[in-house]
Amino acid sequence: MCGIIGISSNKPVSTIILNSLKKLEYRGYDSAGLATIHKGFINEIKCEGRVNNLEKNVLTSKSDGLIGIGHVRWATHGAANTINAHPHSSEKVSVVHNGIIENVTILKKHLINNGHKFKSQTDTEVIVHLITEYLKTNNIKNTITKVLNKLHGSFALGIIFTDHPDLLVGARRGSPLAVGYGPNENYLGSDSYALKSMTNKITYLDDGDFCILRKDKVDFYNSEGVIINKKILELSKEDIDINKGDFKHFMAKEIAEQPNTINACIKEYINKLNNELSIFNFPWKKEDFNKIILIGCGTAYHACVIAKYWFEKLTNLEVDVDIASEFRYRNNRFRKDNLYVFVSQSGETADTHAALDLCNKNKMKTCAIVNVVESSIARDAQFVLPIHCGQEIGVASTKAFLGQMLVLYLITLKISKIRNEINDLQYANKICQLKELPELILKTLKTETKISSLSETFSNAKGSMFLGRGHSYPVALEGALKLKELSYIHAEGYPAGEMKHGPLALIEEGMPVVVIAPRDDHYEKTMSNMQEVIARGAKVLLITNKSSDEIKFDNLWEKIEVETSSIDLMPFLLTIPLQNLAYYSALTLGHDIDKPRNLAKSVTVE
Ligand code: AGP
Repeated sequence: MCGIIGISSNKPVSTIILNSLKKLEYRGYDSAGLATIHKGFINEIKCEGRVNNLEKNVLTSKSDGLIGIGHVRWATHGAANTINAHPHSSEKVSVVHNGIIENVTILKKHLINNGHKFKSQTDTEVIVHLITEYLKTNNIKNTITKVLNKLHGSFALGIIFTDHPDLLVGARRGSPLAVGYGPNENYLGSDSYALKSMTNKITYLDDGDFCILRKDKVDFYNSEGVIINKKILELSKEDIDINKGDFKHFMAKEIAEQPNTINACIKEYINKLNNELSIFNFPWKKEDFNKIILIGCGTAYHACVIAKYWFEKLTNLEVDVDIASEFRYRNNRFRKDNLYVFVSQSGETADTHAALDLCNKNKMKTCAIVNVVESSIARDAQFVLPIHCGQEIGVASTKAFLGQMLVLYLITLKISKIRNEINDLQYANKICQLKELPELILKTLKTETKISSLSETFSNAKGSMFLGRGHSYPVALEGALKLKELSYIHAEGYPAGEMKHGPLALIEEGMPVVVIAPRDDHYEKTMSNMQEVIARGAKVLLITNKSSDEIKFDNLWEKIEVETSSIDLMPFLLTIPLQNLAYYSALTLGHDIDKPRNLAKSVTVE
């Protein structure tokens, strides 16, 4: 939820920190700040809002410090203002923090009783005062070991010291943190994205680790303060300077990229010569599991709900789906023939990672479907399936959602095949249908023009409903989430058959309702549900697919027809107009589309 950067160099660091914070803004942008050590003093600069607000202050301050830390914030404790912005500093120590300190109240009480004065409402400030206190009688390493063991909760920390201007400390528990290695300088960052523009040599800290980082060497320690060795990874060369190209927003670019990203993912898993689906090193045999449990948050959870329909249709497995923050506190039945699948774009979502940890502790089979293969969830799962959609910058997930659905569909086919629950002809047909998907998505993107003309109705509405049956129901959930998180207007995804059990009371004259109804087995019944809401004044936008026997409705507000694919693959196509509906509604409202208020790209706190 927050982004951290730290640098120790042989040249002034404030400008490099500033540029790195801009790359980290997708992790939070309520406020920003940096601190450097120069001539024995902490030079702290902070601001409310975006990193751009910080820039002018940094440039005028002409800070020449060769060591520093920086932070972009998503508020957990304390309002999103300058006082609560990080870094937090005493006279001798400055700290940036991503996470939540759960025993802040008792720690703060003791510190205040010992004469410490607090300036902010944050939990982080407690760490500053604890370190300051312990430094009076301990060296750096012992101070850090002792302080970290007093903290409950999660943290990724960057810490600098006036009395030690040649070093900075990084520490990790529950929130991601990495070290990067450069020429005559070394770096600390929340993730590889923050560091990739400076280096591709990365070390990931594990929970309990801390490091003492100098410009020419980095020492790592475990939670007892014992020195440990850590691997240096050389990350793949990716498109480091991600940019928007001709698009107004990253979200628009990422929606438009979907034919290519789906194509790239298909090429990774389907051999174009023999059409064989190759999921290399799949570690389990058909007798190893009889139940699949799919777990995720937000959009990733919606991909899991869609996949449940696929697993139920194509395999005889028992299938459960759960929201990670619910799963981790449930009285789960951990059986050895369960297979747990964790879906996460970032691979850093705290609840999903905690659910994975719980399964690992219970010695369960675990598989992760992620976009960031160097992420914590990828590292901690037994088996990893990347979605290969490239870095997704827009906080509202689009191309990653289709990538998650695709890999979930591929794993469904793979498991159905090894369990002999799909015959060779059906299997071959489904692989061929998949190969047509990128072209169908490309054609469906053309619905953008019409959708953009309808978006004003939604941006002016008090609220809206998204209805569907079968696997169009989770598509409705996703469409509603997209509209909510971008337009800040209430929208609800609901099973079309459920409206008469209460929510029909919400329908009033002129309320926009999106009905998602491809020409599948649920079509007729969904049309009846559509008439029920029209009869009560709803303005219905019907999302369906092109069909030779088109049915016309004279009381329909609007209709969007997506391309026609096999029924299995319709969720991919039905999602496209819903992504654009949310995008254009937010554009009409003038919202910050790539960084919607209150949200962040990677939710690394509970
Ligand atoms: C997506 O539009 C949302 N911003 C959000 O629900 C997201 O899907 C969720 O936080 C899970 O993130 P993850 O896929 O990185 O785990």
